[in-house]
Amino acid sequence: MLKRLIVAIDGPAGSGKSTSAKLIAKKLGFLYIDTGAMYRAITYLAIENNVLQNNDAIIQLAKNAGLDLEFNNGETHVYTNGKEITDKIRTREVNSKVSDISKIEGVRKALVDRQRELAEKNNGIVMEGRDIGTVVFPNADVKIFLTASIDERASRRTKEYEEKGVHISLEEIKSNIEQRDKIDSTRDVSPLVKALDAIEVDTSNISIQEQVDIILRVIQQKVNKK
Ligand code: DC
Repeated sequence: MLKRLIVAIDGPAGSGKSTSAKLIAKKLGFLYIDTGAMYRAITYLAIENNVLQNNDAIIQLAKNAGLDLEFNNGETHVYTNGKEITDKIRTREVNSKVSDISKIEGVRKALVDRQRELAEKNNGIVMEGRDIGTVVFPNADVKIFLTASIDERASRRTKEYEEKGVHISLEEIKSNIEQRDKIDSTRDVSPLVKALDAIEVDTSNISIQEQVDIILRVIQQKVNKK
Protein backbone atom coordinates (compact mmCIF):
# COMPACT_ATOMS: atom_id res chain seq x y z
CA MET A 1 0.00 0.00 0.00
CA LEU A 2 1.23 3.46 -0.92
CA LYS A 3 2.07 5.54 2.18
CA ARG A 4 2.42 8.95 0.58
CA LEU A 5 1.69 10.08 -2.94
CA ILE A 6 3.11 13.19 -4.55
CA VAL A 7 1.82 14.41 -7.89
CA ALA A 8 4.02 17.09 -9.50
CA ILE A 9 2.49 19.17 -12.29
CA ASP A 10 4.79 21.54 -14.15
CA GLY A 11 4.48 23.64 -17.26
CA PRO A 12 4.29 27.21 -18.55
CA ALA A 13 1.56 29.77 -17.75
CA GLY A 14 -1.84 28.87 -19.14
CA SER A 15 -0.98 25.25 -19.90
CA GLY A 16 -3.81 24.01 -17.68
CA LYS A 17 -1.84 23.27 -14.50
CA SER A 18 -4.09 24.99 -11.98
CA THR A 19 -7.35 23.83 -13.51
CA SER A 20 -6.36 20.19 -13.65
CA ALA A 21 -4.38 20.17 -10.38
CA LYS A 22 -7.36 21.56 -8.43
CA LEU A 23 -9.78 19.02 -9.91
CA ILE A 24 -7.43 16.12 -9.29
CA ALA A 25 -6.76 17.17 -5.69
CA LYS A 26 -10.51 17.48 -5.10
CA LYS A 27 -11.28 14.11 -6.65
CA LEU A 28 -8.57 12.33 -4.63
CA GLY A 29 -8.94 14.34 -1.42
CA PHE A 30 -5.32 15.53 -1.73
CA LEU A 31 -3.77 18.81 -0.63
CA TYR A 32 -3.40 21.26 -3.53
CA ILE A 33 -0.44 23.64 -3.53
CA ASP A 34 0.00 26.44 -6.09
CA THR A 35 3.68 27.39 -5.86
CA GLY A 36 3.32 30.22 -8.40
CA ALA A 37 1.20 32.00 -5.78
CA MET A 38 4.23 31.95 -3.46
CA TYR A 39 6.58 33.57 -6.01
CA ARG A 40 3.82 36.11 -6.69
CA ALA A 41 3.51 36.84 -2.95
CA ILE A 42 7.23 37.60 -2.61
CA THR A 43 7.05 39.81 -5.72
CA TYR A 44 4.15 41.73 -4.18
CA LEU A 45 6.12 42.17 -0.93
CA ALA A 46 9.20 43.37 -2.85
CA ILE A 47 7.08 45.98 -4.65
CA GLU A 48 5.37 47.06 -1.41
CA ASN A 49 8.68 47.38 0.42
CA ASN A 50 10.29 49.19 -2.49
CA VAL A 51 13.22 46.77 -2.70
CA LEU A 52 12.89 45.48 -6.28
CA GLN A 53 16.53 46.37 -6.97
CA ASN A 54 17.91 44.83 -3.78
CA ASN A 55 18.28 41.05 -4.01
CA ASP A 56 19.50 40.65 -0.43
CA ALA A 57 16.44 42.47 0.90
CA ILE A 58 14.16 40.33 -1.30
CA ILE A 59 15.79 37.15 -0.01
CA GLN A 60 15.20 38.36 3.57
CA LEU A 61 11.55 39.01 2.68
CA ALA A 62 11.26 35.47 1.29
CA LYS A 63 12.83 34.00 4.44
CA ASN A 64 10.61 35.98 6.81
CA ALA A 65 7.39 36.14 4.81
CA GLY A 66 5.60 33.53 6.96
CA LEU A 67 3.74 32.37 3.84
CA ASP A 68 0.62 30.30 4.20
CA LEU A 69 -1.69 28.96 1.54
CA GLU A 70 -5.27 27.97 2.15
CA PHE A 71 -7.39 26.48 -0.57
CA ASN A 72 -11.11 27.00 -0.37
CA ASN A 73 -14.01 27.78 -2.72
CA GLY A 74 -11.81 26.91 -5.69
CA GLU A 75 -9.26 29.59 -4.86
CA THR A 76 -5.82 29.67 -3.23
CA HIS A 77 -5.86 32.21 -0.41
CA VAL A 78 -2.42 33.60 0.33
CA TYR A 79 -1.25 34.96 3.70
CA THR A 80 1.96 36.64 4.76
CA ASN A 81 2.51 36.54 8.52
CA GLY A 82 -1.23 36.12 8.97
CA LYS A 83 -2.30 38.95 6.64
CA GLU A 84 -4.29 38.00 3.55
CA ILE A 85 -2.86 39.23 0.23
CA THR A 86 -4.81 37.00 -2.17
CA ASP A 87 -6.17 39.80 -4.34
CA LYS A 88 -2.83 41.58 -4.51
CA ILE A 89 -0.76 38.92 -6.21
CA ARG A 90 -2.41 38.73 -9.64
CA THR A 91 -2.00 42.30 -10.78
CA ARG A 92 -0.37 43.61 -13.95
CA GLU A 93 2.60 44.82 -11.93
CA VAL A 94 3.19 41.48 -10.24
CA ASN A 95 2.80 39.72 -13.62
CA SER A 96 5.54 41.87 -15.09
CA LYS A 97 8.03 41.43 -12.22
CA VAL A 98 7.48 37.89 -10.95
CA SER A 99 9.83 36.11 -13.36
CA ASP A 100 12.75 38.34 -12.39
CA ILE A 101 12.13 37.74 -8.69
CA SER A 102 11.90 33.98 -9.37
CA LYS A 103 15.43 33.98 -10.79
CA ILE A 104 16.98 34.84 -7.42
CA GLU A 105 18.59 31.74 -5.93
CA GLY A 106 18.01 32.70 -2.27
CA VAL A 107 14.33 33.34 -2.95
CA ARG A 108 13.97 29.93 -4.59
CA LYS A 109 15.74 28.22 -1.69
CA ALA A 110 13.46 29.84 0.90
CA LEU A 111 10.32 28.98 -1.07
CA VAL A 112 11.35 25.41 -1.90
CA ASP A 113 11.97 24.82 1.83
CA ARG A 114 8.51 26.18 2.60
CA GLN A 115 6.92 24.09 -0.16
CA ARG A 116 8.41 20.90 1.25
CA GLU A 117 7.28 21.93 4.73
CA LEU A 118 3.70 22.60 3.57
CA ALA A 119 3.58 19.19 1.94
CA GLU A 120 5.06 17.36 4.91
CA LYS A 121 2.02 16.51 6.98
CA ASN A 122 -0.13 15.30 4.10
CA ASN A 123 -0.28 11.87 2.55
CA GLY A 124 -1.56 13.04 -0.79
CA ILE A 125 -0.28 16.17 -2.50
CA VAL A 126 -0.80 17.77 -5.87
CA MET A 127 1.76 20.53 -6.30
CA GLU A 128 1.98 22.70 -9.38
CA GLY A 129 4.72 25.02 -10.60
CA ARG A 130 7.77 25.10 -12.83
CA ASP A 131 10.34 23.00 -10.94
CA ILE A 132 8.27 20.61 -8.84
CA GLY A 133 9.28 17.39 -10.64
CA THR A 134 12.87 18.52 -11.16
CA VAL A 135 13.84 20.25 -7.89
CA VAL A 136 11.16 20.37 -5.19
CA PHE A 137 10.21 16.68 -5.38
CA PRO A 138 12.62 14.93 -7.77
CA ASN A 139 11.27 11.62 -6.43
CA ALA A 140 7.59 12.53 -6.93
CA ASP A 141 5.46 9.47 -7.66
CA VAL A 142 3.81 11.07 -10.67
CA LYS A 143 5.29 13.83 -12.83
CA ILE A 144 3.22 15.60 -15.45
CA PHE A 145 4.47 18.30 -17.81
CA LEU A 146 1.66 20.26 -19.45
CA THR A 147 2.08 22.31 -22.60
CA ALA A 148 -0.23 24.19 -24.99
CA SER A 149 0.21 26.60 -27.89
CA ILE A 150 0.94 30.21 -26.98
CA ASP A 151 -2.32 31.42 -28.59
CA GLU A 152 -4.38 28.94 -26.61
CA ARG A 153 -2.60 29.81 -23.36
CA ALA A 154 -3.02 33.55 -23.88
CA SER A 155 -6.68 33.16 -24.71
CA ARG A 156 -7.32 31.04 -21.58
CA ARG A 157 -5.58 33.60 -19.34
CA THR A 158 -7.52 36.48 -20.91
CA LYS A 159 -10.80 34.68 -20.20
CA GLU A 160 -9.77 34.01 -16.58
CA TYR A 161 -9.02 37.69 -16.03
CA GLU A 162 -12.29 38.72 -17.72
CA GLU A 163 -14.20 36.41 -15.37
CA LYS A 164 -12.60 38.23 -12.44
CA GLY A 165 -13.56 41.59 -13.92
CA VAL A 166 -9.95 42.44 -14.85
CA HIS A 167 -9.66 43.77 -18.40
CA ILE A 168 -6.25 43.19 -19.95
CA SER A 169 -5.97 42.81 -23.72
CA LEU A 170 -5.14 39.49 -25.36
CA GLU A 171 -2.02 41.07 -26.91
CA GLU A 172 -0.72 42.30 -23.53
CA ILE A 173 -1.32 38.92 -21.91
CA LYS A 174 0.31 37.09 -24.81
CA SER A 175 3.38 39.26 -24.68
CA ASN A 176 3.64 38.91 -20.86
CA ILE A 177 3.38 35.12 -21.12
CA GLU A 178 6.01 34.99 -23.89
CA GLN A 179 8.35 37.10 -21.83
CA ARG A 180 7.81 35.01 -18.68
CA ASP A 181 8.26 31.75 -20.65
CA LYS A 182 11.59 33.04 -21.90
CA ILE A 183 12.90 34.13 -18.48
CA ASP A 184 11.49 31.06 -16.68
CA SER A 185 13.04 28.58 -19.14
CA THR A 186 16.45 30.20 -19.51
CA ARG A 187 17.27 31.17 -15.91
CA ASP A 188 20.33 29.53 -14.31
CA VAL A 189 18.59 28.23 -11.18
CA SER A 190 15.85 25.58 -11.61
CA PRO A 191 14.67 26.60 -15.08
CA LEU A 192 11.33 25.45 -16.42
CA VAL A 193 12.23 22.15 -18.09
CA LYS A 194 10.46 18.84 -18.39
CA ALA A 195 11.86 16.25 -15.98
CA LEU A 196 13.24 13.28 -17.93
CA ASP A 197 10.68 10.99 -16.34
CA ALA A 198 7.70 13.37 -16.67
CA ILE A 199 4.77 12.57 -18.92
CA GLU A 200 4.11 15.37 -21.35
CA VAL A 201 0.52 16.26 -22.19
CA ASP A 202 -0.33 18.86 -24.84
CA THR A 203 -3.62 20.40 -23.72
CA SER A 204 -4.14 22.71 -26.76
CA ASN A 205 -6.93 20.65 -28.26
CA ILE A 206 -8.32 18.60 -25.41
CA SER A 207 -11.00 19.40 -22.85
CA ILE A 208 -10.38 19.95 -19.14
CA GLN A 209 -12.11 16.65 -18.46
CA GLU A 210 -9.77 14.88 -20.86
CA GLN A 211 -6.70 16.43 -19.19
CA VAL A 212 -7.93 15.36 -15.80
CA ASP A 213 -8.75 11.83 -16.99
CA ILE A 214 -5.28 11.40 -18.52
CA ILE A 215 -3.57 12.47 -15.29
CA LEU A 216 -5.88 10.34 -13.14
CA ARG A 217 -5.04 7.31 -15.29
CA VAL A 218 -1.31 7.91 -14.79
CA ILE A 219 -1.86 8.17 -11.02
CA GLN A 220 -3.96 4.99 -11.02
CA GLN A 221 -1.25 3.08 -12.90
CA LYS A 222 1.29 4.22 -10.36
CA VAL A 223 -0.86 3.15 -7.43
CA ASN A 224 -1.48 -0.26 -9.06
CA LYS A 225 2.23 -0.85 -9.47
CA LYS A 226 3.08 -0.20 -5.82
O1 DC B 1 2.07 29.74 -12.08
P1 DC B 1 2.15 31.27 -12.17
O2 DC B 1 2.00 31.78 -13.57
O3 DC B 1 1.25 31.94 -11.20
O4 DC B 1 3.66 31.61 -11.71
C1 DC B 1 4.14 32.92 -11.67
C2 DC B 1 5.65 32.94 -11.86
O5 DC B 1 6.28 32.32 -10.75
C3 DC B 1 6.17 32.20 -13.08
O6 DC B 1 6.21 33.02 -14.23
C4 DC B 1 7.55 31.75 -12.65
C5 DC B 1 7.45 31.64 -11.15
N1 DC B 1 7.40 30.26 -10.65
C6 DC B 1 8.61 29.61 -10.50
O7 DC B 1 9.66 30.15 -10.87
N2 DC B 1 8.64 28.36 -9.95
C7 DC B 1 7.51 27.75 -9.57
N3 DC B 1 7.58 26.53 -9.01
C8 DC B 1 6.26 28.40 -9.75
C9 DC B 1 6.24 29.65 -10.31
